[in-house]
Amino acid sequence: MLDAEVRELMQPFVLSDYQVQEVYSRFCLEVARGLKRSTHPQANVKCFPTYVQDLPTGDEMGKFLALDLGGTNFRVLLVSLKGHHDATVDSQIYAVPKDLMVGPGVELFDHIAGCLAKFVEKHDMKTAYLPLGFTFSFPCVQLGLKEGLLVRWTKGFDCPGVEGEDVGRMLHEAIQRRGDADIAVVAILNDTTGTLMSCAHRNADCRLGVIVGTGCNACYVEDVENVDLLQAEFKRTKRQVIVNAEWGAFGEGGQLDFVRTEYDREVDEKSINRSEQLFEKMTAGMYLGNLVRLVLLRALERRLIFKQSSRRPEFASVLQKNPEVFETRYISEIEDDSFPEFASTRKIVKQVFGLEKASVEDCQTLRYICECVAKRAATLVAIGVSGLVNRTSNRRVIVGMDGSVYRYHPKFDAYMRQTLQKLVKADKEWDIMLSEDGSGRGAALVAAVASKSK
Ligand code: GLC
Repeated sequence: MLDAEVRELMQPFVLSDYQVQEVYSRFCLEVARGLKRSTHPQANVKCFPTYVQDLPTGDEMGKFLALDLGGTNFRVLLVSLKGHHDATVDSQIYAVPKDLMVGPGVELFDHIAGCLAKFVEKHDMKTAYLPLGFTFSFPCVQLGLKEGLLVRWTKGFDCPGVEGEDVGRMLHEAIQRRGDADIAVVAILNDTTGTLMSCAHRNADCRLGVIVGTGCNACYVEDVENVDLLQAEFKRTKRQVIVNAEWGAFGEGGQLDFVRTEYDREVDEKSINRSEQLFEKMTAGMYLGNLVRLVLLRALERRLIFKQSSRRPEFASVLQKNPEVFETRYISEIEDDSFPEFASTRKIVKQVFGLEKASVEDCQTLRYICECVAKRAATLVAIGVSGLVNRTSNRRVIVGMDGSVYRYHPKFDAYMRQTLQKLVKADKEWDIMLSEDGSGRGAALVAAVASKSK
């Protein structure tokens, strides 16, 4: 049985129907403000046009390189599109050392170009001409398909000299500086766009791409007449365009203050991008573990967990010393655990606190804390998804999803569906599909569709 006091502790994370409706209305308003030229500068859901106006048909062919920067890892991929909705992907993961994440931008791009050169060499493609799609998962103002100005860094990156610059050009210059491969940057895209494209490659009804991973964001297909920031020439021949919502920044105008908790405020205050990405800080993998850590500290202080142990002050200091000690993946592992054995939960407790025998009650308390934090994240994501699904002009809408939190949390999908059922308009038919390598296949598809439409 769960302690009533534990329930009370977690109450601030439980969104009422009223709060859900209110966040939904505020979100929809921000999207509309982001799209409109007159309100765009103040809006915090920016809704950037991506210049991707064609969805794949499934017939695309050719070999493409793709780069994927913006999650926990950096990847280089070789994608072969084979027609008939088919593709193969060969990829290599490279670490992004922590100092590069906050060091001079030029060094980051030199590192990327270096990894790219190694990859091309390994695949014996040094002499081939290769078009490249760059999945750069940060907010960008796109000036065209292959030009994107970084608006701000997110997710722990903070390299000076890149904000306001064209990242396509920076990558191009880094490749030129090495001069050892014939690679042309033909498209820059967000990971959400990649997700949408890779799902649309398989299912023609896909209209949204959503990432709940290190960061959290979505894009969707909007009618061009609603996108003020898109120049007239792009409205003449095409009816639609993918819009990158950049919803991670939602709440920066105070819209979420009525649901943010003391823990959310602390996560924000200790982050390197204070007052920014407030919706992201409640929903994304980079922050969820930290939220659980802060709640655990409070639970220890109130003697709601590890009640029998005299080592509680020591446990508190473990949590205080290292903000990353409670990893987000633990949340998924704990919710996946079996009752009453709690084998993984006990393993995690041992790893974090060095405590051998957590009681069933402790495990239940920990599980409930994780559940509330994850469920709130899924509910918030689903509020955003509902807002965008309801904006699309299609009756049938497939939502393409990816990201470590969505992929590995055993109940994230189910939690999301509960909220979608409440908020999506009754005349819509919707479903969620898991994306297969959006950042790679999606990048190749954007590059392929771009060259086709030329
Ligand atoms: C952050 C980035 C956004 C990206 C998301 C998911 O919110 O700003 O561009 O799509 O993370 O990776």
